[in-house]
Amino acid sequence: MNPPTIEPVHCKKKERLGFSLLLLLGLTTIFSFFILYTPNHFKFILKQDLHWRKFLFKSNHDYETCDLFNGQWIPDHNGTLYTNGSCLTIPDSKNCQKYGRKDVDYLNWRWKPDGCDLRRFDAKNFLQIVRGKTLVFIGDSVARNHMESLLCLLSQEQTAIDMNKDANDRFRTWYFPTHNFTIKVLWTKFLVIAEERVFNGTNTGVYDMHLDRIEKNWTQKLPGADYVIISSGHWFFRQIYLYENGNVIGCVYCDAKNISNVKPSVALGKAFQTSLKYINDCKECGKLTLLRTFTPAHFEKGSWNTGGRCNRTIPYNDKQINLGGSEWEFKIAQIEEVEKVKKNGQNKGKRFEALDVTKAMMMRPDGHPDIHWNNQWMKGYSDCVHWCLPGPIDVWNDLFMTVLRKEHYSSLT
Ligand SMILES: *[C@@H]1O[C@H](CO)[C@@H](O)[C@H](O)[C@H]1NC(C)=O
Ligand SMILES: *[C@@H]1O[C@H](CO)[C@@H](O)[C@H](O)[C@H]1NC(C)=O
Ligand SMILES: *[C@@H]1O[C@H](CO)[C@@H](O)[C@H](O)[C@H]1NC(C)=O
Ligand SMILES: *[C@@H]1O[C@H](CO)[C@@H](O)[C@H](O)[C@H]1NC(C)=O
Ligand SMILES: *[C@@H]1O[C@H](CO)[C@@H](O)[C@H](O)[C@H]1NC(C)=O
Ligand SMILES: *[C@@H]1O[C@H](CO)[C@@H](O)[C@H](O)[C@H]1NC(C)=O
Ligand SMILES: *[C@@H]1O[C@H](CO)[C@@H](O)[C@H](O)[C@H]1NC(C)=O
Repeated sequence: MNPPTIEPVHCKKKERLGFSLLLLLGLTTIFSFFILYTPNHFKFILKQDLHWRKFLFKSNHDYETCDLFNGQWIPDHNGTLYTNGSCLTIPDSKNCQKYGRKDVDYLNWRWKPDGCDLRRFDAKNFLQIVRGKTLVFIGDSVARNHMESLLCLLSQEQTAIDMNKDANDRFRTWYFPTHNFTIKVLWTKFLVIAEERVFNGTNTGVYDMHLDRIEKNWTQKLPGADYVIISSGHWFFRQIYLYENGNVIGCVYCDAKNISNVKPSVALGKAFQTSLKYINDCKECGKLTLLRTFTPAHFEKGSWNTGGRCNRTIPYNDKQINLGGSEWEFKIAQIEEVEKVKKNGQNKGKRFEALDVTKAMMMRPDGHPDIHWNNQWMKGYSDCVHWCLPGPIDVWNDLFMTVLRKEHYSSLT
């Protein structure tokens, strides 16, 4: 069975992985490229009004001391920036309050990075920065969820116009006329080409994946992008035969004779390697690419199809999360691929960064729709993969805005 909106997650194995140097390396190098004070920048600063000057100095300070992606959730009662009444584009599947979620404590937390405060999303400023630009989200329905959060945050300033979508609603374009700003979402399960095996007329759920062949459905629509946010992951937890150069090189969850077992994180890493290389080699495919790292599902007492739930009402603290599981391996594989492409990208004037939301979201078992997602056709199935709107997923855009501001103001000369 293939449910329409939930992407099933079968976490069959939880291999342990030593918490490695690699991660530390990844996290510390993320910020080390930022060199603000060239003489040119200084001239620029002097020309600007006090507001920008304050921002530039403040942001520079922040980045020296701050790791945006490590921190904790702390209580915050300032309220959400939008509600299901003010944002007209919340899809029913994420409108948890409309579909019976009564507890509200999950909205009263903010992400506090170690060493600094994260700025709240500022819709006005964001739209100024992206004037005339195109932002493209690439990925599965969780990428869509990210975009939906951004639409809601921006709805404080303007409700986007829904420009077009294809019959299956896999590719969709939104437009902000006052700022000539376009958002596109390009749907893909795996980023690379993968075909489901069909046996005797029925889908088997087993895939053949070509790790070195990019899926053209999304690449065709990428030219014209200025900013790209790419993500993937949930579909990799299944049986997948892996090919390179047309030859089988291994398999995920197969235990087949004379085919080597490959961890899903290795397959995921290679799919990202192929994708990031494609973006790097493509001239019209964006100057800034962010890889939004994997976020876990939080099914408890069962999986998506055996009655699993996610009805907690407060976050986990950092001692309650498991940094030894496959979710964490996914994130490490993703950070590695960003680091690999980064240097090559610089030579071409392209920037690659991680939007590393994994740890923050591991701590938010309380942020999913659970049974509150208009699941009239799928009663009994909880959604513990996607995120309520408003909700903790909104922090992805606080973080995105911070990275974007850094990029934007450091490129003004
Ligand atoms: C929340 O409100 C308090 C008090 O008004 C303020 O000090 C704090 O900075 C606010 N937090 C955020 C994230 O805006
Ligand atoms: C918003 O949520 C409330 C419950 O808090 C619900 O009664 C209402 O129908 C929802 N409104 C919309 C437009 O979804
Ligand atoms: C919108 O932005 C695009 C890309 O920068 C540009 O080509 C186009 O002329 C702009 N349109 C308007 C109406 O400003
Ligand atoms: C293939 O499907 C047909 C019709 O549904 C069925 O009769 C037959 O047993 C199936 N064959 C196998 C090998 O499963
Ligand atoms: C690519 O797009 C076509 C046309 O919409 C669709 O039939 C096909 O299933 C898509 N391929 C993948 C892998 O999603
Ligand atoms: C398994 O190994 C045998 C002997 O080396 C070889 O003939 C066969 O093609 C292999 N099967 C697969 C599926 O690779
Ligand atoms: C929460 O989910 C658990 C199963 O994980 C269930 O036993 C319990 O009744 C649920 N609690 C509420 C308040 O729905």
